[in-house]
Amino acid sequence: MRGWKDAGMLTVLATPDPNKDKGEVLYNAHCATCHQGDGTGLPAHFPPLKGDEVVNAPDPITLVRAILFGVKGVEIKGVKYEAQMPHFDRQLSDEEIAAIATFTRSHWGNYGPKVNPAVVTEARKTPPAQGPSDAPHP
Ligand code: HEC
Repeated sequence: MRGWKDAGMLTVLATPDPNKDKGEVLYNAHCATCHQGDGTGLPAHFPPLKGDEVVNAPDPITLVRAILFGVKGVEIKGVKYEAQMPHFDRQLSDEEIAAIATFTRSHWGNYGPKVNPAVVTEARKTPPAQGPSDAPHP
């Protein structure tokens, strides 16, 4: 069981499918290390994005700002996370961030509407007063 599954995964990684959702590819590259490929996170370390209120909010601004500037010191569903989330404002374009946001809002039972890159362009102009999170990237 394990054998053929792993072999299949390796083939996918080695030969990217051009038709595969761009948001999914980016999510797997930049977010899955912490939040996991299925969006369930790691209890006590990384919050789940599956069923998360920020991810599913009708207005995507908090989600977009989380990806742009990182997250620190926020209590999520009663849990305080010691780790911080790194910021991606210098690493990812507006289109890429919008694609990742849209992906997280439309998988694992999540239900938020599509995110327009213009929202990211606008949010970039107002970084948080305390500066972006200083967490290192994985
Ligand atoms: C190095 C690990 C790490 C990576 C990589 C990472 N995150 Fe996070 N993320 C966290 C941690 C830790 C928190 C919680 C921080 C806190 O509570 O202060 C968090 C919080 C969040 C939140 C806020 C949830 C809420 O309800 O407030 C969102 C949304 C999020 N991450 C999305 C993403 C996306 C999308 C990516 C990829 C672009 C990503 N994260 C990459 C560690 C990570």
